[in-house]
Amino acid sequence: MDKFRLTHAAAQKYDNHSVPAMFGPLARATLDRTSLPAGAHIIDIACGTGALTREVAARLQGSGRIVGADLNETMTELAAQRHPTDAHDATYVASDVCDLPFEAGAFDLAFCQQGLQFFPDKAAALTEIRRILKTEGELKLTCWSAISPFNGALSEALNDQVGEAASNKAKAPFSFRDEKVIRDLLEGAGFTIEARQNIVLERRFDNLFEQIMALPIEKDLREAGDDVANAVVKDVAAKLKKYAVNDTFVVPQEAYLFEARA
Ligand SMILES: C[S@@+](CC[C@H](N)C(=O)[O-])C[C@H]1O[C@@H](n2cnc3c(N)ncnc32)[C@H](O)[C@@H]1O
Repeated sequence: MDKFRLTHAAAQKYDNHSVPAMFGPLARATLDRTSLPAGAHIIDIACGTGALTREVAARLQGSGRIVGADLNETMTELAAQRHPTDAHDATYVASDVCDLPFEAGAFDLAFCQQGLQFFPDKAAALTEIRRILKTEGELKLTCWSAISPFNGALSEALNDQVGEAASNKAKAPFSFRDEKVIRDLLEGAGFTIEARQNIVLERRFDNLFEQIMALPIEKDLREAGDDVANAVVKDVAAKLKKYAVNDTFVVPQEAYLFEARA
């Protein structure tokens, strides 16, 4: 499988749209369920543009260390630019999860928010994360646990009006969600699973057209033309009817939060 490479424009788009819509709220929900030990050394694996890293930095009190690591330099560069000056310092490194530039046992706590499904070698990735954790260190990992009704509706509309490849793209982030498979991978890498929680986000869609065109699927819709794009948006709106609240749609999106001990 090809490595997940992103251009500067794609990183910026991700930060402008996906972070406020999903990854910022998910980071806050995860951290609301986590106590950050004083002085802890913390790493955010596959940090993207730093949604969770920033949230940790804002909550860290006193000393400690927070590092964000991501395969894509475009993401870590943007994360460093976006890091607030009034938050705890963070270091951002561009690195494959399977080859992290840290000594064994360097961290007390690792987060991995919506990264596992994109790692080509998941077993090797989890083994490497465990290597850089102290004995008894903790991993908090989130993965979508169901295809969100929004992405399900979009995928069906794309299948009907654009084609299978476009339809699959809309579902891709939700493709890895079998709890048993994730448990087996964690345990296979030597982790002990201590808890598995469910987080339900409420995602708002105030402007379906703009929000759909902010996704990677935009390219396929532009190629298909305005009539098809408008038809897809209309179809998605019809499929989401039961989530309509006044002029908007409020759609649930569910994630697993695994808490595992190294
Ligand atoms: C859906 S994004 C999540 C990013 C971030 N955790 C957040 O919540 O915004 C998935 C991230 O995984 C990163 N990624 C994909 N493959 C990777 C790998 N092999 N090693 C490290 N990061 C990787 C991508 O660059 C991308 O930033």
